[in-house]
Amino acid sequence: MCGITGYIGRDEALDRVLGGLQNLEYRGYDSAGVAVTEPADGDIAVYKRSGEVDQLLEAAPAESPSRCAIGHTRWSTHGPPTDANAHPHTDCAGRVAVVHNGIIENYERLQAELSEHTFTSDTDTEVIPHLLEDRLAAGDDPVAAVRAVSDRLEGSFAFCAIVEGFDGVVAVRNDSPLVLGHGEDGTYLASDVTAFLDRTRSVTYLENGDVAVLEDDVTLYRDGEAIEPAIETIEWDADAAEKGGYDHYMHKEIHEQPQALRQTISGRLEVDSGDVDLEVSFPTEHLNSIEEVQLVACGTSYYAGLYAARLLETLADVRASVTIASEYAFEGGRDPWRTLTIAVTQSGETADTLSAIRAADQAGARTMAVTNTLGSTVTREVDDSVFIRAGPEIGVAATKTFASQVATLALVAVHIGRRRGALSSGRASELLGNLRDVPGAVQQVLDAEPDVDAVAAEYADSDAFFFVGRAFAHPVALEGALKLKEISYDHAEGFAAGELKHGPLALVTDQTPVLATLTDGGDADKTYNNIKEVQARGAPVIAAASSSDDRQVNEHLSVPDVGLFEPLVANVYWQLFAYHVAADKGRPIDKPRNLAKSVTVE
Ligand code: M6R
Repeated sequence: MCGITGYIGRDEALDRVLGGLQNLEYRGYDSAGVAVTEPADGDIAVYKRSGEVDQLLEAAPAESPSRCAIGHTRWSTHGPPTDANAHPHTDCAGRVAVVHNGIIENYERLQAELSEHTFTSDTDTEVIPHLLEDRLAAGDDPVAAVRAVSDRLEGSFAFCAIVEGFDGVVAVRNDSPLVLGHGEDGTYLASDVTAFLDRTRSVTYLENGDVAVLEDDVTLYRDGEAIEPAIETIEWDADAAEKGGYDHYMHKEIHEQPQALRQTISGRLEVDSGDVDLEVSFPTEHLNSIEEVQLVACGTSYYAGLYAARLLETLADVRASVTIASEYAFEGGRDPWRTLTIAVTQSGETADTLSAIRAADQAGARTMAVTNTLGSTVTREVDDSVFIRAGPEIGVAATKTFASQVATLALVAVHIGRRRGALSSGRASELLGNLRDVPGAVQQVLDAEPDVDAVAAEYADSDAFFFVGRAFAHPVALEGALKLKEISYDHAEGFAAGELKHGPLALVTDQTPVLATLTDGGDADKTYNNIKEVQARGAPVIAAASSSDDRQVNEHLSVPDVGLFEPLVANVYWQLFAYHVAADKGRPIDKPRNLAKSVTVE
């Protein structure tokens, strides 16, 4: 995801901020930039480039006398990774520079209001400097202007601004993290402590709504009142610091899911009306004539596709098929003009998936990508792209991208259902309300991690693990097993719960725990019949079950009430289970043997 850095103090600010950007490089980004306040005249100078921080280093001066600067690494969500779209963004006169993380949901509305201003990028961010320009012209000081602008923004964001003639940085936080670092040479500001941990370990975490003003001293405003910043000391070592205090990227990414999901749905759903805005332009006549939606994908993305196919059939009244991309062919009985083929791929570079979408395109089908990566190969080859906005995922095991893929595909299903007239606004509204509650529900699961850790420790040495589920819980069973096998190297299989008795039951013993998803959207009553079958063979049962469920199982992990998305939330328990089993066994969790993050061969 994007990274923010800032500095004001006795030392060279450009050097400090560029150093901070280099420290944030591990997070993944596609462009970078800095803005400095020139001490001689208070003017602002901006340097920015698409690509690596190294390219920015070539563009920026080798030295600068400035003592005040802000910087940014961008991971594109609105507009491709170009020099123009890189942060900082400025107002018309170049008197204000802004770096921003998160998404401004109402940016199009604000941009329409700012019709007198000249915009030079595709980003949502750029409304901020232009709004600040208006407030400053109306007589606000920089702090009042930032407050007023922040009040007008919808979504989750954090931004920092420097203003010509003002020797300081003003920053505000709303749902996207910001932290201050109190160094001996000056004050640092960043979206992540790793940016300045080589300079200071004394930090203050901003809370939502906080406004921080960095001048010679720091003033922190909470609810409009200046407060004393609470200072904490970071104890992590350098390696843990890079992972945000977690031992592994996978663990960090599991915990990033609430934020990733908020970004996925941000600005895209209208719960009251049941409408979805995906910024794609399917002609309605095409949607009305579609007979089949095909999903093509591999691995975890294939399981997200299975979840989505069921959503499409349930909500959009359209036949939906899912094919493992390496097995895809555009076969008989299909009319390409009445087919929409969706490539589901986190990286956008998976060779099997690219090959499948090319085959669909050649056959004449309309194509779409659901991906995490702006500018990836798949986005250049399809008719439409929808971005899942999960932020970069570094661990080989996909976690947050699965959650964001399912959430995005749910929006696609609601969009198609509404446009085809197959889904009432009331039902859509209910579903979107459930989807809006998913980030909070995932957080509740994450809060129960100590329980999962204990369960993992108890069962880690089992002979094998079987994951079962029905309906929307079936892909979750498959994904749960994949996660466990790839990072713990234990034998794990996922089954449709009803299939156990058709063969796999022969493998079930008292040494093979069965991990069952017993939630809404997972046909829990029928699944429980299958659970009785394994219990009769002595298998211990670990259930991720709806909170009200009181069926007899060995371990009960409670899933909050979010309708058809409960299996998606239950999946977080299986991610944590896999993580703790693998951690107990000392496996190299982020780089499991024989596997790669992006598979670019067929
Ligand atoms: O980048 P993609 O989503 O196309 O990757 C597809 C699979 O290789 C991927 O989902 C893989 O199964 C996961 N890394 C497993 O955790």
